[in-house]
Amino acid sequence: MKIAIIGAGSGYMPGVIRGLLHRAADLAGAELAFHDPDAGHLATMARLARRMFAARDAAFTVTEHTALKPAVDGAAYVFTTFRPGGMAGRHLDESIPLRHGVVGQETAGPGGFLMALRSVPVLLDVAAAADPDAWIVNYTNPTNIVTDAVARHTGARVIGLCDQFAGDTEMWAGLLGLPAERLEADWIGLNHATWAERVRVDGVQIDLPALLDRLDVPGGGATPWRDPSRMAELAKALGFLPNSYAKYYFFHDDVVRELREKGTTRAEDIQAMLPGYYAQIAAEAERPDPDPSRERGGGEHGEFAVDVICALHRDEHRRMIVNTVNNGAIASLPPDAIVEVPSLVARSGPTPLAMGELPRPVRGLTQAIHAYERLAADAAVTRSRRTALQTLLAHPFVRSKHTAEAILDEGVAAHGIALER
Ligand code: G6P
Ligand code: MN
Repeated sequence: MKIAIIGAGSGYMPGVIRGLLHRAADLAGAELAFHDPDAGHLATMARLARRMFAARDAAFTVTEHTALKPAVDGAAYVFTTFRPGGMAGRHLDESIPLRHGVVGQETAGPGGFLMALRSVPVLLDVAAAADPDAWIVNYTNPTNIVTDAVARHTGARVIGLCDQFAGDTEMWAGLLGLPAERLEADWIGLNHATWAERVRVDGVQIDLPALLDRLDVPGGGATPWRDPSRMAELAKALGFLPNSYAKYYFFHDDVVRELREKGTTRAEDIQAMLPGYYAQIAAEAERPDPDPSRERGGGEHGEFAVDVICALHRDEHRRMIVNTVNNGAIASLPPDAIVEVPSLVARSGPTPLAMGELPRPVRGLTQAIHAYERLAADAAVTRSRRTALQTLLAHPFVRSKHTAEAILDEGVAAHGIALER
């Protein structure tokens, strides 16, 4: 069995390697085809992986590829985890909307659309190069739009991932004083726009509105991208749990002000720490039993992806929150929408579980985000300027045609993207 990993030079890779180690017995004998256009980062991660596998007698073979076709040839699973344009591209996505008074974020809003314009063509190439019955397991953002584009515009089998639900569930466990390991929330909606009304401890549903009524809003320590106090405030108003990206919708203008005051983008902050990070990974890869601490994304991120691959491969029918075709699971969204929803993952793919309607206070918002995402996927495939402009006009952050035009024109110029008139 062969698993191709596209973007294997990524800073998130140590966590993926840990995830593979964790399931080494279930994937014994697999070839792991590491692919990355950056030969240096690729070599570092391959070396780290070989060392970590050897230290634990994990039966994997690691091959290295800078060309796509040999990496994906014969692969049953093609795991995509790259960031097109790197941090330099992300910096543009985060800064251009902000100049026009709109939240600048790598996945939410116009920044996410600019990213989709870069991610989608690469994923279409990956889908075309992969074996026809391969599973594309996609982490590349914006994962919802990428998954939609691949699902509707290629014949490939695709499943979209995001581990945000895990971090958010843990954050809510902390806020609500519930045991994180025993807590399960039904996050439903769209990637980075999910909501949870049903929350269980040891399988028993808790009275969330009552718990939220008693919740004290914590103070202090907020950044524009991590702010439990605003999340608590919002949940108390809504009566259910919002995904942490909800702050960009419900505190939009505050976040714009904070991001402007902050001065540097998240991309710039990460870019500044990346050389040191890779140097540390490279040093760790020389040790007999490497333990890459400070890994980006944490072990959870990689473990989740590998667990999804195992669920597909071993026909586990495991309940997991993934991005897949709705098929009526969420009544408030079209049957062919890509939704993020608890699903049973088995060899035949994910089967989304029936979740009913979205909570009414966020139903319209989520439907609007879906309309935007659908347009975004189409624009990224067709490269039509009209569809691209319609995409930004449809986004809840964008409140004027001039703003939409300015962000689009500046964005495509800065990234050197050509759109058809
Ligand atoms: C969360 C999101 C991912 C996103 C990441 C960015 O994990 O779910 O979709 O890529 O945050 O983290 P970073 O450290 O790069 O800002
Ligand atoms: Mn995510």
